[in-house]
Amino acid sequence: DWTMKAYRAEMVQRIRDQVGKGRVVCGLSGGVDSSVAAVLIHEAIGDQLTCIFVDHGLMRANEADQVVQTFRDRFNIHLVHRDASDLFLGQLSGLTDPEAKRKTIGRLFIEVFEEEQNKIGGADFLAQGTLYPDVIESVSATGGPSVTIKSHHNVGGLPEGMRMRLVEPLRELFKDEVRVLGRELGIPEEIVGRHPFPGPGLAIRIPGEVTREKADLLRKVDSVFLEEIRTAGLYDAIWQAFAVLLPVRTVGVMGDGRTYDQACALRAVTSTDGMTAEFYPFDMGFLGRVANRIVNEVRGINRVTYDITSKPPGTIEWE
Ligand code: XMP
Repeated sequence: DWTMKAYRAEMVQRIRDQVGKGRVVCGLSGGVDSSVAAVLIHEAIGDQLTCIFVDHGLMRANEADQVVQTFRDRFNIHLVHRDASDLFLGQLSGLTDPEAKRKTIGRLFIEVFEEEQNKIGGADFLAQGTLYPDVIESVSATGGPSVTIKSHHNVGGLPEGMRMRLVEPLRELFKDEVRVLGRELGIPEEIVGRHPFPGPGLAIRIPGEVTREKADLLRKVDSVFLEEIRTAGLYDAIWQAFAVLLPVRTVGVMGDGRTYDQACALRAVTSTDGMTAEFYPFDMGFLGRVANRIVNEVRGINRVTYDITSKPPGTIEWE
């Protein structure tokens, strides 16, 4: 893409002009925006950039490893990977209210990020993958230009009290343009084409208390579902697809015995911006295959349901 090539070169120059010899930190989440921002900034200033990946232990199966492999091994980006899953899961223990869970995760994220940033001796700039729609949204919300991004919707956002200059190379771009730029930069398709994933991760897909055991169980269900979606060639036709671990046990039969295990829900929607959404109309054969695989392969789950609620009145996530 010729336009993106030129844009890439121009952005690299602008980042160099802005940053000079300064040091930049960037929070990586594994999502498209922070990934593209990090690779672009790295191209501009190399080792003056350090990425911090706060791993809350609530990502999908293998995603944490994939982040580390991609950025450290493939792009040679200086990356701090902090496994903070004990801390996050410990503090989530006993919490059942969705907002309390979100707040706790957001607060810990900032604490851990600052801790890691201090360990590397601080930085002059904070990099963010803010997109044009975030810019418009915050300008119209505050009546003037603003550096804050959608608050509860992005755990990777700038901590209120952190006074650092911002590097926001994607501020002029829409999501589809960020994807084009990401491909131009050689970022693997699994990251560039990835479905959106909420900052609080699996915590808001486990109604009620979050535990490591539940997160592990949900990861198994989720990966069967996503694998089948990919195999069927449906991944790119769907905005988001995921599983929810239901806080209910139901009776089933397995062989000669009776089971009394947990139920799960599958959710897949189409959307253009996440503001409205329609449930994805899988064919029944597909859903039946996925349900069979889950019940047979994931011990602890004996019932599968499919969520056919659209947004509005539902939301995409269950919490
Ligand atoms: P809802 O559930 O509100 O979700 O229909 C709309 C979009 O936002 C994502 N989402 C979040 N993203 N932090 C995030 O970073 C959050 O707390 C959060 N809650 C929802 C959701 O996955 C969907 O893409």
